[in-house]
Amino acid sequence: MKTLVTLMILAAGALAAAPVKIVLPPETAKLVESPLPGYALAQAMCLTCHSAEYLLYQPPTSPRTYWQATLTKMQKTFGAPLPDEMVPPILEYLVKTYGAERDGAKAAAPAVTGATGTADPAGKKAP
Ligand code: HEC
Repeated sequence: MKTLVTLMILAAGALAAAPVKIVLPPETAKLVESPLPGYALAQAMCLTCHSAEYLLYQPPTSPRTYWQATLTKMQKTFGAPLPDEMVPPILEYLVKTYGAERDGAKAAAPAVTGATGTADPAGKKAP
């Protein structure tokens, strides 16, 4: 009986710890979903060198010109293999998802927040 109780406590501990370990990494690695064509392009082009957190941590008021400059910097300074024709759609996605033109942010935010439940001690973000 004592062994069984011990096992149950151990199992409960393992279960409690698991979600935190598993949920957090994908959360930082994913871009915010969008129906815009730039979403898929950004997924393909923007996560090879760094995580999606780099986008999340930009000021939400960042205007189009800021994102344009960022994309140019990724191309010219950091050598991102980003074809020029992909810049306009990605720019559109970035400014409307992470920047000043994010009216769609209202729709995206609740889905993102609601999915997390209780597992994320940091609170707001989704897996
Ligand atoms: C060839 C590698 C590479 C690719 C591909 C790349 N980046 Fe970057 N990115 C960097 C480096 C290097 C930094 C600076 C890292 C640091 O300061 O620690 C950076 C930083 C950033 C930042 C932080 C702000 C800043 O200006 O430093 C943003 C935002 C960003 N990248 C967006 C993007 C987007 C959007 C794409 C896709 C179009 C992209 N990156 C693709 C290398 C890359």
